[in-house]
Amino acid sequence: MTTSAAPRVVHARAPGKINVFLKVGALLEDGYHDVATAYQAVSLAEDVRAHPADDFSVSFSGTVDVSNLATDGSNLAIKAATLLARKAGYRSGVRLEIEKHVPIAGGMGGGSADAAATLLACDALWGTDLSREDLLELATQLGSDVPFAFTGGTAVGMGRGDQLSPALAKGQFQWVFAFADFGMSTPEVYRELDRHRDRHSQDIFPAEVQPHVDAIVLQALRAGDPHMLAEVLHNDLQAPALHLEPELGAVIELGESNGALAGMISGSGPTVAFLVADLDHALELQIALSAARLNVVRATGPVHGARLISD
Ligand code: C5P
Repeated sequence: MTTSAAPRVVHARAPGKINVFLKVGALLEDGYHDVATAYQAVSLAEDVRAHPADDFSVSFSGTVDVSNLATDGSNLAIKAATLLARKAGYRSGVRLEIEKHVPIAGGMGGGSADAAATLLACDALWGTDLSREDLLELATQLGSDVPFAFTGGTAVGMGRGDQLSPALAKGQFQWVFAFADFGMSTPEVYRELDRHRDRHSQDIFPAEVQPHVDAIVLQALRAGDPHMLAEVLHNDLQAPALHLEPELGAVIELGESNGALAGMISGSGPTVAFLVADLDHALELQIALSAARLNVVRATGPVHGARLISD
């Protein structure tokens, strides 16, 4: 008698991120930039459910608008699943259901989180049982932010942002996010930064060849002190993002005049991240920004990286 195991579903979750500090070095020949960043994973997560299937497919639901997401081979979750199948010599496929809570093309690493959770879910579903190092290596091939979605917590990212070392962080930081109703293209924001640097090359210092994360940033994270961290939040992609979408400047100002310790563009934007002193300030700011008809979500960080969830 043969018994076949009941088809099962594997559920994995991975977090969105913010870059509390991001310095961008000069444009390299491969089209990338060396960066020095401090990442923090936040409590906005992507849930991936992987079902057995003969081929590869993905569908989306969630609290953000998922209507314009690609579901073909250009989707990063599909790329993650096919990359793992190829690496492990797995011959069948997967049906992915992704529940999204991280804004799309929002500068918070939502697609990267999908990819990281997909790697973990498919590895468990298929029993390919790759080592953590092998999965991280695949994550690196998928995108600069995918390794961090895998590891989570608080970390320094060098190189393309994919060479990670964990950073100590105490307690929980409170964040308020203003989501935009449009997305921004990361390559386009990097290109705008390069154009700006070219235009003003007479007046500004050349971009650092090997940028680094300022020690004071790591100290603020270690101290768990939001006031100290607010003083040193920095994002080199903020100016180019504001050039491309100037109205985001007013969102930052609105938050800062309603109790935020500091506001900044998250990653390549357009999400605006506000650091607040505590939960009371987070709730007050959420009310003020919502009254201005912004789409506002609260979150805390740091949180776990990609992990399996038992339903
Ligand atoms: O690695 P990822 O596919 O997420 O990068 C998307 C784009 O962002 C790259 O094609 C590049 O234009 C830009 N990028 C960069 N330097 C980095 C990371 C990303 O120029 N360190």
